[in-house]
Amino acid sequence: MTGSVDLEHKAPRPRIWAIGGGKGGVGKSVFSTGMAMTLAQKGERCIMLDADLGGANLHTFLGMSHPGRTLSDLFRNQSLGLKDILLSTPFENLWLISGARAMLDMANPSYLQKMKVIRQIFSLNADHIFIDLGAGSAFNVLDFFLAAHEGVVVVMPTPTSIENAYHFLKAVYYRKLRKVVRELKVERLIDAALSAKVKSGIRSPRDLMIDLQHRDPIIGEQIVRAMMPFRPRLIVNQVQRNEDRDLGKKIALACRDFFGIEMTVPGLIRTDERVLMALKSRRPVLEMFPNCPFAEDVRRIAQQMTRVRR
Ligand SMILES: Nc1ncnc2c1ncn2[C@@H]1O[C@H](COP(=O)(O)OP(=O)(O)OP(=O)(O)O)[C@@H](O)[C@H]1O
Ligand SMILES: [Mg+2]
Repeated sequence: MTGSVDLEHKAPRPRIWAIGGGKGGVGKSVFSTGMAMTLAQKGERCIMLDADLGGANLHTFLGMSHPGRTLSDLFRNQSLGLKDILLSTPFENLWLISGARAMLDMANPSYLQKMKVIRQIFSLNADHIFIDLGAGSAFNVLDFFLAAHEGVVVVMPTPTSIENAYHFLKAVYYRKLRKVVRELKVERLIDAALSAKVKSGIRSPRDLMIDLQHRDPIIGEQIVRAMMPFRPRLIVNQVQRNEDRDLGKKIALACRDFFGIEMTVPGLIRTDERVLMALKSRRPVLEMFPNCPFAEDVRRIAQQMTRVRR
């Protein structure tokens, strides 16, 4: 079932989205599928990449049975590229790169295997690529999140989901900072700031940035500037109660105070029993119930998020 469409000639770079959130079961996969279906229905060529390497199941959300080639094949076979494992889906303008089969060795690919995937994503010829991430904050998850143009964090209005989302954001922030510092070759400046952490009152990444700017205004400014594009978007999913409607804004404000980053909140998604009904029928929600609250909310968010290219 490998896609026969030529998706790898020179064309505008695709816009790459990564959907994470730290916690399992918050709706990363249903949201990724909803976004991809929405844009595919508008005629934009979309590829979904199942990067939940330990528990890949995007094919089920798309109503596909056992996928042919998967990332496992790519990891095993040097000569295969991402375009060789691209699968057609039952839907127009939508292709799938299926995640690794549930095998322990494949859940943790080597650095080189991961970089091969990340590098090749950019050469696929599509309008949008949605990377559906697994739960947790392992380096593999963080690196896919940081490689994308747009990072989207999905959170549910439960204490554990909120806690995991903060943990995920913190982990991804420091992973990005580490990369920036390495690229600018200023490890010593950060080390000095961190070892004087308590004395200089550093409690958060935001304090760290302020301290760095005092220590060395030029390099400090370079670091702040390099961190600026880090502006994940936040989606609150499974909203049921009125008091949860402001949760996204509250988390964004807390992130501004703690990290000094501006997160945007493109919208919320209501709890909708049709999500589970569609999943049980192995059909995408947007295809089975195109006018349900979930579909409406996802379409509104897709419109909001694709309006401005940042
Ligand atoms: N808006 C919603 N309304 C009702 N149910 C929902 C909604 N969003 C997600 N769900 C349900 O939550 C469950 C988990 O969704 P999903 O598999 O997308 O989560 P996930 O974050 O991708 O999980 P994992 O980390 O395990 O991959 C599904 O059974 C789905 O039916
Ligand atoms: Mg998932």
